[in-house]
Amino acid sequence: MKRMLSGIKPTGQLTLGNYIGALRNFVNYQDDYEMYVFIANLHCVTVYQEPADLKKNLRDAVALYLAAGLDPEKSTIFLQSDVMEQAQLGWLLACNSYMGELNRMTQFKDHVAKGETNLTAGLYVYPCLMAADILAYNADYVPVGVDQKQHVELTRDIAIRFNNKYGDTFTVPEPLTQKVGAKIMSLSDPSKKMSKSDLTNKGCIYLLDEPKAAMKKIMSAKTDSLANVAYDKENQPGLANLIEIACALTGEPIEEFTNRFKGCGYGDLKKEVAADVGNFLTDLQERYDGIVRSDLLRDTLENGRQKAEPIARKTLHKVQRKIGVEIFR
Ligand code: TYM
Repeated sequence: MKRMLSGIKPTGQLTLGNYIGALRNFVNYQDDYEMYVFIANLHCVTVYQEPADLKKNLRDAVALYLAAGLDPEKSTIFLQSDVMEQAQLGWLLACNSYMGELNRMTQFKDHVAKGETNLTAGLYVYPCLMAADILAYNADYVPVGVDQKQHVELTRDIAIRFNNKYGDTFTVPEPLTQKVGAKIMSLSDPSKKMSKSDLTNKGCIYLLDEPKAAMKKIMSAKTDSLANVAYDKENQPGLANLIEIACALTGEPIEEFTNRFKGCGYGDLKKEVAADVGNFLTDLQERYDGIVRSDLLRDTLENGRQKAEPIARKTLHKVQRKIGVEIFR
């Protein structure tokens, strides 16, 4: 069975974009792959987080993983910082990465372009830690949304370079993105990704949003004035985004959905998308409520750590031997 690994960084509440672009795929893949899914809490702190908020967001993220259908019997679910070997490997990979390649990472460049000051060194070397997350487990595939593809490409470059320099060590992973929903856009500005850092609170749906409030966000989503229902990402990005959201949640093919609404007003289409989102959130939150305060969270993370740690440790020791930093092992 091929191995798959991915993670989400709960710097805030998880979003519908996280679900559609990542989480739902983890759930779909868990029967056919050896699945490792973690909470990227060390990545969270590359930007300051209020400690109490962070703690809540981490707990919520585990509960949402489970509520979304990740099954601890099938998938190994763990907290990144519980496997210290990952961070240790991150350092060794940072010593095998170049500033030139880190400078090219669009996510880092976006922070710089926004004129943010006091960017942390952690934010800069973050892709090396992400490479370690993946390479520690010799993952074959990494399911991600489009925005994380570049980091997985860098991981491949680092792995190939390391293998060439020190001999075959790492599996070279492949990113996996979906045709539909790999980049869910902001509802208020469909030229931008739906993101946790949306300050307007209108463009982003959070998985723990009150379903009615989320439905309102859909109803007031920005579309266009063409008055023609079509799936055209380039010329009608707002509408295309709503169609993707609905189809990702219900599984209906895009063409079928679009044909059903041919000749209808945007209001009718929005009403259906809003209902799909409302139903989805209601079901998800019902399951979340039953899980979030249960022992299942602790047990899941502890079992996950026990399964993940030996694998990462083995890889780390192998890397240390290859590099020459070990004496007696
Ligand atoms: P993060 O936390 O930003 O996002 C988690 C996953 O959700 C996807 N995603 C989206 N997909 C579609 N539309 C959107 N609007 C949207 N927003 C987010 C992301 O592409 C991602 O798949 N660095 C990673 C976390 C990470 C990781 C890893 C992932 C750390 N180590 C190792 C895979 C493997 C991150 O910040 O994702």
